[in-house]
Amino acid sequence: MSSHFLFVVCQVGSEATVKNEVARKHPSFRFSFSRRGFLTFRIPDEVARDRKFELNCAFARTWGFSLGKAVGTDGQQLVRDFWKPFAERYPADVLAQFKHLHVWQRDRFVPGDSDVEPGITPLAEGIGELILDDRTSSASGWASAHRDSSTTSDLHELGGPTPSRSPLPLNEVAQVGDRVLDCVIVEPNEWWFGWHRACSVETCWPGGVPGVDAPDNMISRAYLKMGESLLWSELPIQPGDRFVEIGSSPGGSCQALLDRGCLVTGIDPAEMDPLLLANPNFTHLRSRAKRVERNDFQSFRWLAMDANVAPKYTLDTVEAIVTQPNVRIEGLLLTLKLTDLALAAELPLFHKRIRSWGYRRVRARQLAFNRQEVCVVATERTM
Ligand SMILES: C[S@@+](CC[C@H](N)C(=O)[O-])C[C@H]1O[C@@H](n2cnc3c(N)ncnc32)[C@H](O)[C@@H]1O
Repeated sequence: MSSHFLFVVCQVGSEATVKNEVARKHPSFRFSFSRRGFLTFRIPDEVARDRKFELNCAFARTWGFSLGKAVGTDGQQLVRDFWKPFAERYPADVLAQFKHLHVWQRDRFVPGDSDVEPGITPLAEGIGELILDDRTSSASGWASAHRDSSTTSDLHELGGPTPSRSPLPLNEVAQVGDRVLDCVIVEPNEWWFGWHRACSVETCWPGGVPGVDAPDNMISRAYLKMGESLLWSELPIQPGDRFVEIGSSPGGSCQALLDRGCLVTGIDPAEMDPLLLANPNFTHLRSRAKRVERNDFQSFRWLAMDANVAPKYTLDTVEAIVTQPNVRIEGLLLTLKLTDLALAAELPLFHKRIRSWGYRRVRARQLAFNRQEVCVVATERTM
């Protein structure tokens, strides 16, 4: 039986959804362990060796190959335990190819609850510094790691960048292709160790959470969601682009778009924040989306929808707009509210429907700043 494991980090409450998604997409994986916001799966040897492997699960905030855990109350011992499985498994030249150390705590709350947002906590940062200190002071087997080709084949054949002995950056954004050491603080006294190769925007972020700078006068936490969705989707928005958002009140996401220089229209029967109403680059259409003239959408390059309605209503509304002959919206950012978590299983059907409107590339992710919802991005419009 394989001795390789994968760890997956997700939003608190999404564990069963991750399990179902992994079972659908990777039937050979076997669920092994879970805590709120953290799961592990036993994976076949060939998956562990496949340098192109990507998990591709919308509800996995991030993931990596797990090398086990250490439990204890002696921090220094836990730090030594961190380096041990790496030094035992991998030779020094392979270890030297790791470019980053990411250390983070699993979430304790649904994002936004108790005023807590996902991200790197002071505890995680402190533990990361201890781990790095231990590497430089005692080398912890890092420099003296012995070569054992029978246990290193999964990492060994990766080729890649020239080994470097420079200090590892802690909790910085990696580059696609970088190999990253991971330490997930599942409990303050229970640390899980692993590594991943950054293969997408979100796997470059420590713990799968981007840094989104929020202004002091942030109107709503939708500002964070919009910030993350723009980073994750890599929509090529430019200052001066026309962006329409359906479900725009009170206005955090429009504020984020205005901060990026867009000309923004918000459609919502509810009031917008006065800060936005005072902005000459913002227009409010105080109405439900279905009452807005279809031709009014001709001038927009991008459309977002974040209305508190069921996914079917969101898709019906957007379909009625983007399938108009005169409307050429290049990209969509849709928040699909999972009023029932069972709707997660319908994501492939939602994707198919969106592709039928002429968008070739459709992706979904439960953003780190999402709540019980997912963000769907549709691009590469062909018709
Ligand atoms: C989650 S809030 C939106 C938050 C907003 N994006 C922000 O940045 O602050 C959902 C909004 O959807 C609006 N909404 C619901 N149904 C709508 C519809 N059919 N057309 C337009 N807005 C709608 C509600 O009035 C509500 O203000």
